[in-house]
Amino acid sequence: MSQKHTVISPANIAFVKYWGARDLERAIPVQPSISMTLRNAVSHTTVEASDASGPDEVLVAAEDGTLAPAPPAFQERILPHLERLRQRAGSTAALKVATRNSFPSAAGIASSASGFSALTLATAGALGLHLEPREASVLARLSGSGSASRSVMGGYVEWPVASHGEESDEAAAAQIADAGHWQLADVIVLVETGPKDVSSLGGHRRATTSPHFARRQELLPGRLEAVRDAIRRRDLDALGPVVEEEAVELHLITMSSKPPIFYWQPATLAVMEAVRRLREEGLSAWYTMDAGANVHVICEETAAAAVASELRGVPGVRGILPDGVGAGPRVSDEDLF
Ligand code: PMV
Repeated sequence: MSQKHTVISPANIAFVKYWGARDLERAIPVQPSISMTLRNAVSHTTVEASDASGPDEVLVAAEDGTLAPAPPAFQERILPHLERLRQRAGSTAALKVATRNSFPSAAGIASSASGFSALTLATAGALGLHLEPREASVLARLSGSGSASRSVMGGYVEWPVASHGEESDEAAAAQIADAGHWQLADVIVLVETGPKDVSSLGGHRRATTSPHFARRQELLPGRLEAVRDAIRRRDLDALGPVVEEEAVELHLITMSSKPPIFYWQPATLAVMEAVRRLREEGLSAWYTMDAGANVHVICEETAAAAVASELRGVPGVRGILPDGVGAGPRVSDEDLF
C-alpha cells in the first residue's frame, strides 16, 4: 500500500525580519516577525508513503521533470524532518520525496520557507496526518527553517515569540489579515541567481555577535506595532519606511557580525537607489531584502507593471519575478512522480 500527496507552498517576504535564534535547531526566535505570503514563488513537493521497507529517498526535479538524488547537504536537512513527521504520525512508512522550486534556490527568496512548508504539509498528507494551521506552523518551524512557520498560511502573517514558560512548541504563526485584505505586489528584482556564500542559518548563528543586535531588540516593539497598524489600515506610505529600515538593519547586522557577511552586490545598491528615484517621481514603492542580494520591491498591485519596467533597465539586473500576496499552500494533483 502506498499513499501519495502533493502540495504547492509559497515563499514569503518578511516585513519585520526573523534574525537570531534562542535555539537555532528548533528555530525558536529572539523576536516576533511579520511577513507577506507570496503567490508565484513556490515549492512544489510530492511525498509518497509506502509500506515497503527501505530508506527514505529525496529527489530534486529539474525543469524538464527529470528526477535526480538531492545533494547531500540538502538531504541532511530533510531526512531528520521526515523522521520527526513519521514519529508524529506514529508511522513506520518509508518516504519518497521529490521537490522543485519555481525560482532560484538559496538566493534570498526564502526557498527554505516554501520548501519546508511544502515538505511538512505533503508528508503529513501522505502519512494521513491532519494538521490544523497552528500545528502545521510549529512542525514546519521544527525543520530548523523559522520562516517556514509563516509560509503555511496565506496573506499577512505574524510569528510571535512564545510567552514565558512555553518556550518549546508554542510559538505558532497566525494570520493577521487574509490575502484579499490588501492587494500588495512584490516585484522581485534578481541581481544574483546562484546560491549565496553563507546560509541564513549561518547568519542567525552569528547575529548576536553584532554590536547592533541588542539595540535592534529595543527598536522592534515599535516597528512591529507600526507594521501591524499599517497592514490594518492598508497604508503603504506608513508601511514602506519601516520595511526599508528593517531590511537595512538586517544587513547592518550581517555586515557587523563576527566574521562579517556581505550579502549585497553592487546591483543591490543600484536597485535601492532606483526605487528611491521612483518615489521622487511619485510611485509608492519600497525595497526589502532577505539574506541575499536580490531586492523585493513592495508596491500596490496597480503600480507593479510600472515598477517592473523601470527596474528592468537598472545595470546588473538579471530579471524580474512579478509576485504578490497569495492565499497560502494548496494541495495539487500534479504529482512529480
Ligand atoms: O527561516 P530561515 O532560517 O531561512 O531565516 C529567514 C531569515 C530571513 O529571510 C532573512 C528573514 C525572515 O524573517 O524571513
